[in-house]
Amino acid sequence: MNLYQSSFHSVKFNDLDLDMNMYYLQRPDNIFFKKLYDRWSIDNYKLLDEKNFLNAKRNAGQILHSIIDKHKILSFGIGTGITESELLKLDSNYDITGIDYSMITKWLDPRIRFLRHIDECVIDNYDCLLLNSVIYSFDNTTLSTLISSFYKILKKDSLVIVWEQDLPTLMTYNKIRKFHKYLHCRKQLGFVHWGFIRSPFVIKSKFKKMFKYVTSKYFYVDKNWSNYETRSFYRLNGYKIWQSKDFHANTSQLHIFKKIN
Ligand SMILES: C[S@@+](CC[C@H](N)C(=O)[O-])C[C@H]1O[C@@H](n2cnc3c(N)ncnc32)[C@H](O)[C@@H]1O
Repeated sequence: MNLYQSSFHSVKFNDLDLDMNMYYLQRPDNIFFKKLYDRWSIDNYKLLDEKNFLNAKRNAGQILHSIIDKHKILSFGIGTGITESELLKLDSNYDITGIDYSMITKWLDPRIRFLRHIDECVIDNYDCLLLNSVIYSFDNTTLSTLISSFYKILKKDSLVIVWEQDLPTLMTYNKIRKFHKYLHCRKQLGFVHWGFIRSPFVIKSKFKKMFKYVTSKYFYVDKNWSNYETRSFYRLNGYKIWQSKDFHANTSQLHIFKKIN
C-alpha cells in the first residue's frame, strides 16, 4: 500500500524549500532528508522532542533487548539512534554501528559508530541487523538489492530484525484509497510519496529468499506510544479484518530471520 505524508513531527513538508510537485510522485531522497534534518536541527531538534516520541523509541529499545541475544549490531537507517542508545544503556557490551544519510547526535550514545553508506561496511562482520521503520522507504527492486548486500556483511547465525508499520484494517484501507484518489485529482501539493507498507506475507517472502524465517511478533501502541505485544491478526489480502478500538491506528509487525549459511 502506498504511504503519503504531508508532515513529520510538526515539520510541514510544504515549509521545506523543495519542489513538492516532484515529491508527490517520487519518494524522499537524500536531498529531501537533508532539508528535513536541517529543519529539525534549527532549535536543537525541539520539534522532535516530544515526550511520546522519546518514550516510543526507548520502549522499542527495551523490547529489542529482550529479543536480541547478539552484540555486534548494524542499524540500517538509524535516524535519531534513541532506540540503539537505549540498548547500550541496558547492556554496555553492545557494539553498535548505524547507517543513515546524516547523523543526529542529540540523543546518540557516543559509543555508536556512524557510517553513511552500506558500501562502507566490512563483509562478514555483524551478528545482528536492525531494520527499524526503514524498509518502507524502498521499492521492491531496491529492497532486493539491499537484502543481498545485507547478506554479505552479516556473519553466519546472525539475526535480521525487521520492524515495520502494519497494514491497516480493510475498512481504514477503503477510506485511505478514496483519500488517495482525491489527492491525485487535486494534485495536492505538500503530500509526499513516503513509501510502501507491506503485509507480513510480503515482507517474509522477500527476506526468505536469503534468510531463514524464525518468528514474528505484532504490537499495538497505547496513549503514551508504548508498544504492547498482541496476537497476530486475521487478514484478507494482507489487510487486517478487524482490530480493537483501543489500539492506536498504527499497529506494527516485527519479523526475525537468521542467516544459516
Ligand atoms: C522513519 S526513520 C527510522 C529511524 C530509526 N530506525 C527509528 O526507528 O527511529 C527512517 C530512516 O531511514 C533513513 N534512510 C532511508 N533511506 C536510507 C538509505 N538509503 N540509506 C541510509 N538511510 C536511509 C532515513 O534517513 C531515516 O532516518
